[in-house]
Amino acid sequence: MSKIAAEVRDGIQIIAISNPPVNALSHEVRSGLVEAVERAGSRRDVAAIVIYGEGRTFPAGADIREFGTPPVAPWLPEVCNRIEAVEKPLVAAIHGTALGGGLEVALASHYRIADSKARLGFPEVNLGIPPGAGGTQRTPRLCGVEHALDLMLSGKPIGAASAAEIGLVDKVVDDGLVAAAIAFVRELARDAAPVRRSRDAGRELLDGIKAAASIRKRKDRLEAQSRVLPAPARIVECVEAAVNLDFEDGLATERRLFSDCLASPQSSALRHVFFAERKASKFPELSTGSAHSIREAGIVGGGTMGSAIAAACLQSGLKVVLVERSEAQLEKAAGIIERIFSESISRGKLTEPRKTELLSSLEMSVECGSLGKSDIIVEAVFEDFAVKRRVVAEMEAVAKRDAVLASNTSYLDIDELGRALAKPEKFVGLHFFAPANIMKLLEVVVGDRTSPDAVATCVGLAKKLGKIPVRSGVCDGFIGNRIGAAYREACDQMLLDGATPYLIDEAMRDFGMRMGPFESMDLSGLDISWPRRKRLKSVRDRRLRYCRLADALCELTRFGRKSGRGFYLYDDIGRPRPDGDVLSLLEDIRAEAGCQGRPFEFSEIQNRAHAAMVNEASKVIEEGIACRPSDIDVVEIHGYGYPRWRGGPMKYADDLGLESILSNIRIFGETDPLFWVPSPLLAKLADRGSAFSDLN
Ligand code: CAA
Repeated sequence: MSKIAAEVRDGIQIIAISNPPVNALSHEVRSGLVEAVERAGSRRDVAAIVIYGEGRTFPAGADIREFGTPPVAPWLPEVCNRIEAVEKPLVAAIHGTALGGGLEVALASHYRIADSKARLGFPEVNLGIPPGAGGTQRTPRLCGVEHALDLMLSGKPIGAASAAEIGLVDKVVDDGLVAAAIAFVRELARDAAPVRRSRDAGRELLDGIKAAASIRKRKDRLEAQSRVLPAPARIVECVEAAVNLDFEDGLATERRLFSDCLASPQSSALRHVFFAERKASKFPELSTGSAHSIREAGIVGGGTMGSAIAAACLQSGLKVVLVERSEAQLEKAAGIIERIFSESISRGKLTEPRKTELLSSLEMSVECGSLGKSDIIVEAVFEDFAVKRRVVAEMEAVAKRDAVLASNTSYLDIDELGRALAKPEKFVGLHFFAPANIMKLLEVVVGDRTSPDAVATCVGLAKKLGKIPVRSGVCDGFIGNRIGAAYREACDQMLLDGATPYLIDEAMRDFGMRMGPFESMDLSGLDISWPRRKRLKSVRDRRLRYCRLADALCELTRFGRKSGRGFYLYDDIGRPRPDGDVLSLLEDIRAEAGCQGRPFEFSEIQNRAHAAMVNEASKVIEEGIACRPSDIDVVEIHGYGYPRWRGGPMKYADDLGLESILSNIRIFGETDPLFWVPSPLLAKLADRGSAFSDLN
């Protein structure tokens, strides 16, 4: 079926774009659209033209899947120019999300009418590129340099009313969009109104000292970060060209900078993440399972995690029943939830009346029986197997027949936890990340008896909470913490070989991680992972070298940031500084282990840390714990501060070439063969010259 439908109604050509789900401007859409517009331009029985999108939206942009493939004419900039050149009044009727190239088509149209619920924006910066079809030249001409830069640098869409306020759209209507557009354009045709082209608009908005100052301010700020992320600085350059050059030269500048950015590894990584995030929620269980609707969530345990999960559920419109052991514990939980909402208010994300409304959906109780109406019950009690198993059994005893039961655990065996339940098929693991009201990642841990319906219900819950669900099988630490353990182990080995926690943290921040591994452990609390380290001691291969620095710090009650001392020393306002005592302790531990210290470069630290992550991740895939490599990228980016602009560890491994990763692992293994055991899957892919992306 054609992606463009054209119909003449009483002298008005109506052109509908139909390319579900988001009317992306694929090659077929571009060629069909420009052809339809030009045909209408030359027809004597057509006085004016309306373009709109069928279904849920005006085009939400170029077809991102075509990026990275050889471009096929007509390209979008040419399409926009040809649309703008038509000699009859042409109106874009905008609903849904007019984004990127979609907004550029609208800006090339002579007039714009928007549905009041429509959103307009330039999200290209999130894909590592500037707008590439005239958006950087037409937008400042229509709404001035400041607004144009705000739109393009933030990547955030704005509502129709704001767009009208800054001059991006001409009219906003509450309903009957296409009919309103037809009436509008008919009036223009009747009045023989001249065509109005954005390229000729608003020279006054571009001239002057104000525009220059605005550009200079942003340039100074962005140039420093352009090594890591080139697109924002290039956007400013494009807008500068709009101010200083004529339209055609400005377009040429935009084209050059767009092409440079599109070819950058950062853009390739960001585009990979865009699709990886969407693919992650495609669980195999969704083909057979059906989600139950969730209106009420029960939470057992009102500590930091349980209360934050409760807050997240409330903010998504769910009724919440929170159960704790005593009134005192309930009071504490209420305090945490209150604090979370107050912080949201101070960040402008919530209002006082809305907070009151949300809190009215919260019921607190010391009786497990209060959970009898909950559609899902999540336990978030202390991370101890025996405690959790008892709580899960209590939950089952009071739950309604079809309620899903979930354990919020970071490491524990979901199959074992659910073993004694009468209906283990209702039981699932939900690994929330702290702070649970903010972090977008949710690992959904599927046990050997979990039913597809329970899985589908949890995917539905994740979406309701605005989170990205990633499927994990059962293993120690699931996807993220298991890879994190290998990463930290590699860093510990480097401590034994002569690196310091401070050097490693600095090297990993330089790599792009939000935090180094040791400052991150300080933040979560060294005591949190201490029981697990003790538990694993009995099963650890005795021949493996072990760096006991974290344990030694715990023995000194140096639990991290919360106790003012851990790997770092913290001042009154929580600023860390290196500590000579820790370095002396490390020297002693090295000597005990019979290790010689040697110097480390940033690059070696980064290579080892990344190789350890990728090697473990590859094992996670071959064991079927993760569905696909791109899921691991999503987990690392959203749960562990891995730099989005590198695309995640698996994408970055593909970019480096799996052969080079494998060869590094083999070299590291020459001195430490017990830790550096190459994953068979990695070896197979590298030998074949394949990439992880072949498995996505
Ligand atoms: N190209 C190709 N596919 C796209 C797409 C695009 N621009 N936008 C969305 N899709 C696909 C998604 O991958 C998804 O596919 P699957 O169902 O196979 O997973 C499907 O459309 C639905 O997308 P979402 O799941 O994201 O749906 P949503 O309702 O949650 O969000 C949206 C809709 C707000 C439009 C969101 O998809 C979005 O933000 N899209 C990207 C918009 C964008 O970045 N546009 C700029 C493109 S670059 C450009 O246009 C440059 C230029 O000038 C030349």
